[in-house]
Amino acid sequence: MTQQTTSRDGFSSRLGIIAAAAGSAIGLGNIWKFPYITGEYGGAAFILMYLGCIALIGLPVMLSEFVIGRRAQTNAFGAFKKEAPGTPWFLTGIMGIITAFIILSFYGVVAGWTLHYIFLAITNSFAGASADELGGTFVSFISSPGMPVFWQGVFMALTVGVVLGGVKNGIERYSKILMPLLLVMLIILAFRAMTVKGAAEGIAFLFKPDFSKLTMEALMAALGHAFFSLSLGMGAMMTYGSYIGKQENLGKTAVQVCIADTAIALIAGLAIFPAVFAFGIEPSAGPGLVFITLPNVFAQMAFGQLFAVIFFVLLAVAALTSAISLMEVVVAYFDEEFGWKRSTSTISVAVSMTFTGAILSQGNGAWSGFELPFLLGGEVITMNIFDWFITLTDQLLPLGGLLVALFIGWQLDRNEIEDELTNHGKLKLAYLGAYRIVIKFIAPLLIAIVFLSAIFGIV
Ligand code: PHE
Repeated sequence: MTQQTTSRDGFSSRLGIIAAAAGSAIGLGNIWKFPYITGEYGGAAFILMYLGCIALIGLPVMLSEFVIGRRAQTNAFGAFKKEAPGTPWFLTGIMGIITAFIILSFYGVVAGWTLHYIFLAITNSFAGASADELGGTFVSFISSPGMPVFWQGVFMALTVGVVLGGVKNGIERYSKILMPLLLVMLIILAFRAMTVKGAAEGIAFLFKPDFSKLTMEALMAALGHAFFSLSLGMGAMMTYGSYIGKQENLGKTAVQVCIADTAIALIAGLAIFPAVFAFGIEPSAGPGLVFITLPNVFAQMAFGQLFAVIFFVLLAVAALTSAISLMEVVVAYFDEEFGWKRSTSTISVAVSMTFTGAILSQGNGAWSGFELPFLLGGEVITMNIFDWFITLTDQLLPLGGLLVALFIGWQLDRNEIEDELTNHGKLKLAYLGAYRIVIKFIAPLLIAIVFLSAIFGIV
């Protein structure tokens, strides 16, 4: 197959677009990050804040990214340059590219954990182990200097393989079948988890909000995660928007992606928290929560080993379809702006990300004592380099989203946006007025308020 770097390869079917955008959105964010931050910030109240952020901010920003991308027919950086020539808006694109780079650096590490867990499941390592032992397995694995890096390297090599396959052949084929399968697996796991002895407390944790947990810091985490989970604020959905056909309904696509992404996260919560409480695991255990909890469920299930293998394979695939979109943002920039060959840009970007991630991974082990300062709630707190970069992206993404909202709301011509949204007047959209107000005023204000108060402790 010959791949021309200058012609933009589109998606061949409606299902292809949704599968690819949902493939980007659904990933470790839903199954690894959502549960552990929900555990850290106290359960149901946090989930409510998260849902609010998705509906009020995530959905309109996603729609906006689609509009920008499909209008410009180019990468995130090029889109700003093309739509607002001679202005500093292109810096938003640059920030997105840097953010994508940072995310994929640590994302590759966590995705590597899932590959290692496939291997542990195949060798039946969970059978007969106590919850404490399973916790120990995880900690000694992530704190070892070489093993996580080895698996990270394998994962990044897989990502390169798919990205070099091109849009249609690479992305579409993988996401269409496997994402629905992941949903089915999660539903089965949720049923199993909810019927273990002692599950009730976990269910209450998810559904009975304790409003004393509604802090500004929690709200910042919810907002940051809404962006992370929906792949917003750094150009991925813009890049995908540029591949969406001119006849597609952007609003409908955005709603479907948001619903699919949120449903998967909530079902992952149902699969994990009943088990967390039943097996006496700390809900605030942090990034290891899923890897420590689910093996307990597998150990207690009929055909548990088989389920474990399938589950971790699907999780790795979900991570892969997200990693592709992160890689695409950075690679498309070098391809389209500098005329690099696709293979050259993909490989050099992947190698630098892997190297960065390998350093971050040491933050979980050898260098865990080395901590960097972070300004949160007006106070300086410190954390290891791995957690530091995750927290940083939780702030960079909303900042990117704020700029996207301001760009659509205040910079672009209103008629042209409506033209793009309605496919040149072919669609009658009842929500245009509401979208306009939300994207121009409400979303930017909310992001700014949450941001200022969570970082500086003011407002
Ligand atoms: N949304 C992906 C996930 O939830 C991660 C991601 C973030 C992908 C940002 C692309 C851009 O796993």
